[in-house]
Amino acid sequence: MRTPLVVANWKMNGTVAEARALAAGVRDGLRRPRGVEVVLCPPFTALGAVRELLAAGPIALGAQNSHWEAAGAFTGEISPPMLAELGCRYVLVGHSERRKEFGETDEQINRKVRAVLATGMAPILCVGETAEERAQGLTFTTVEGQLRAGLAGLAAAAIGFCVLAYEPVWAIGTGQHAAPAQAGEVHGYLRGLLSELATKEVAQRVRVLYGGSVKPDNAAALTAEPDIDGALVGGASLSPQGFVAIAKKVAHKGVTVLRGD
Ligand code: 13P
Repeated sequence: MRTPLVVANWKMNGTVAEARALAAGVRDGLRRPRGVEVVLCPPFTALGAVRELLAAGPIALGAQNSHWEAAGAFTGEISPPMLAELGCRYVLVGHSERRKEFGETDEQINRKVRAVLATGMAPILCVGETAEERAQGLTFTTVEGQLRAGLAGLAAAAIGFCVLAYEPVWAIGTGQHAAPAQAGEVHGYLRGLLSELATKEVAQRVRVLYGGSVKPDNAAALTAEPDIDGALVGGASLSPQGFVAIAKKVAHKGVTVLRGD
């Protein structure tokens, strides 16, 4: 039984004032979410303000990135203990924009996953193939490589604290989401790999989110797939109405799952 999870990745959007307004809109739209866990990942600069707004409520806070060291001469970076101090419970790791625009390697991503876990937060490890890789039939090879490298050296119990996100790069910000069955197949494959890397029980516990052009009108169909446990939402999370609508669609699955239907 996995509680569905919906995560807002605001990316590099929003002043502190805008972040406050957006977080307040989500909070007011989801006062008592049932059947779904909700996380907001604002830019670093807005974490403190959003934390205050969400205080003691059901919506959790996450960060979009982290360095792997706790402190040191890494100008411009933010460390896991700094994020934990601000109340973050989740950290996105290895987003395709980090891999592509900032050259993050699988090895660095693995260090980040370990550092986030060691600080008591849950990494949301992102994997996904580019359009070229898909065209060459390399979807499964690509996500498998990213998953194995990202979780390398972790004990089964540690893998159980992770969240995965399958975000096909061609679906991010394009309005072209993966077909539910197409995404569902990749999610099933990732869960199979988790069984191998950890145990079957752990694999059944780990949530695997889908990301890439998730909108209120496709969230229900995507998360109806048995192995899609929620959504990682970019563009549509910048509207409180849009994001609340997505969370409510996903909650529908959660209520059914939690009832044991
Ligand atoms: P979009 O929802 O804008 O396609 O972005 C997805 C994403 O990258 C979330 O991390």
